[in-house]
Amino acid sequence: MIAIYNKIAKANEWIEQNKSSVNNQYRLNYHLMGEMGWINDPNGFIEYKGRYHMFYQHYPYEPVWGPMHWGHAVSKDLIKWEYLPVALAPDREFDKDGCFSGSAIEKDGMLYLMYTGHVYTGEDKSKDYIQTQCLAYSYDGITFEKLVSNPVIDTYSIPANASLRDFRDPKIFKADGCYYTLIGSKDKNENGQVLLYKSKDLKKWEYVNCLSKSHGSIGNTWECPDIFKLGDRDILVVSPQYLKPRGNEFNNLHSTIYMLGNLNLDCGTFSFDEFYSVDYGFDFYAPQTILDSKGRRIMLGWMDMWETPKPTQTDKHNWAGAMTLPREVVLKGSRLYFKPVEEIADFRRNEYSVSNLKLSGEEVLQTIGDSYELDICFDAQDALEFGLKLRVSDAEETIIYYNKEDKLFYFNRDKSGSGLKGERRTNVDLIDNKLMLQIFVDKSSVEVFINEGEKVMTGRIYPSKDAVGICAFSKGDCILTLSKWDIV
Ligand code: FRU
Repeated sequence: MIAIYNKIAKANEWIEQNKSSVNNQYRLNYHLMGEMGWINDPNGFIEYKGRYHMFYQHYPYEPVWGPMHWGHAVSKDLIKWEYLPVALAPDREFDKDGCFSGSAIEKDGMLYLMYTGHVYTGEDKSKDYIQTQCLAYSYDGITFEKLVSNPVIDTYSIPANASLRDFRDPKIFKADGCYYTLIGSKDKNENGQVLLYKSKDLKKWEYVNCLSKSHGSIGNTWECPDIFKLGDRDILVVSPQYLKPRGNEFNNLHSTIYMLGNLNLDCGTFSFDEFYSVDYGFDFYAPQTILDSKGRRIMLGWMDMWETPKPTQTDKHNWAGAMTLPREVVLKGSRLYFKPVEEIADFRRNEYSVSNLKLSGEEVLQTIGDSYELDICFDAQDALEFGLKLRVSDAEETIIYYNKEDKLFYFNRDKSGSGLKGERRTNVDLIDNKLMLQIFVDKSSVEVFINEGEKVMTGRIYPSKDAVGICAFSKGDCILTLSKWDIV
C-alpha cells in the first residue's frame, strides 16, 4: 500500500517545497496553469458537488513533458482556480510510464476518472509502448483510488485494423442508461479514427464500433475525442496529429477540428461531411467540454502546442503550459461560435473607453496593461486596413489587424518578444462594414474573439515587462469604439 501512494506524496511534497522557485514574469493572472513544472491537456473536466474540477496532464519536476501525473484544480467561477493535491501518479504496472489524458464522470455520488495507462515495452520510446484504459474513483473528489482490476479496456479489446499502440484519451459519457467511451486511435494506414466502447457499470467494457474515421486526409491519430449535442446536431471534436495545412488553415503541428454530424449509438456511427477549425491561432490543442448546471456547453483547451520551445522552459522559470479561457460553445446555423464565459466580466476593473474616435494613421491609447480585456468595434468606413498593436514597447509589438481587400484577419507575433514568431490568418467578413473584436491579453497570452465568436485566434507571446503600450491604427479613415478593463 505504501509504495502505491509514494509517488503522489512525492509529487505533492516536491510542489510544496519548490513552487516558490517559479519565476512570475510570464505567469498568467486569470488563466489556469500548473503550480510549477509542465502541463499539457485538460483532463477530467467536470462540475462535481457544486464546483468545477479541472485536472491536467502534469509533470511537476521539470518544465518539460515527462511521466504524466494528473494535476488538479477547482473553481467556483471557471476563472479563479484553487489547487488541490496531485490526483494521479504513474505508480502501477498498468500505468507505470504515464497516466495519460482522460475524462471524468459522476456515478452514485462518486467521482470516476477514466484515463490511459501508458507503458513502455522496449527501448525505442517512439514505438515500443502500449496504452490501455484505466479507472480511478473518489468519494471526496480529492483522493483517488485506482481499480485493482485495471486496465478496464485492455489491448486485446482493440479491433482489427486499429493501431495496437495509439489507443488513448477516453472520453466517457452516459446515454440511455448506458456508459460509453470514445477512444482516440488510428488505423493501420495511419488514418485517424475514434473507437466506441460501451459499459453498464464502468468496469466491464465491450467494443461497439469505429465511430468515425478519416479517409486519408484528416491527419494521423485523432487525439482527445469529445462528443456533444447542440440543438439537434451532434458535434464531434478531435485533435488530429499532423493534419496537413490547407491555405491559411491547419498551420500548426497538430490541429483541433469539429464536425457536425449524426450520432447513432445503436450502430456506433457518426457520419459527417465537413470539418472546421476550432481555433485559428498558434496555440490551441486537446480541448475538453462539459455541459454545466447552467446548461452551457463549455470548452477549455491547452493553450500551447507540441514541439514548440517555450521561454518559460529555460532561464529557470520552472513552469510551462496554460489553459485557454473557458469558452461557451454555441451552434449558429452550421457553425460553432465560441464566447468567453460570462463570469469573466466579474473580474473587470478600471474601465477605459473611447467612443467614435476617427482613426487615420496610428493613435497611442492613453492606457497601458499586460492583463486586460478589450471590446472593440471598428467601423471600417473607407479604410483598407486597420487594427491594433498590443504589448508595445520601443522594440516590441503584437499586431492584430484586418485587411479589407483580402478579407483576412491577421495575428502577427514576429515582434512579440521572446518565443516563436510567425503569423496566422483567417477569412472574416465584415458585418455592415464593421468588425467586432473581444480580446483577452494575459501576461503571455492573447485570445481574439472575432465577430461575436465566429472565429477565435489564440497565441502565446513573451514580451518584455515594459511592453505595455496599446496602439490603434488605420490605413484610410475608420471609426473606433473601444472599452478596456484590467482583469484582476
Ligand atoms: C495530447 C496527448 C494525448 C496524450 C497526452 C500525453 O496532447 O498527446 O493524446 O494522452 O497528450 O501527455
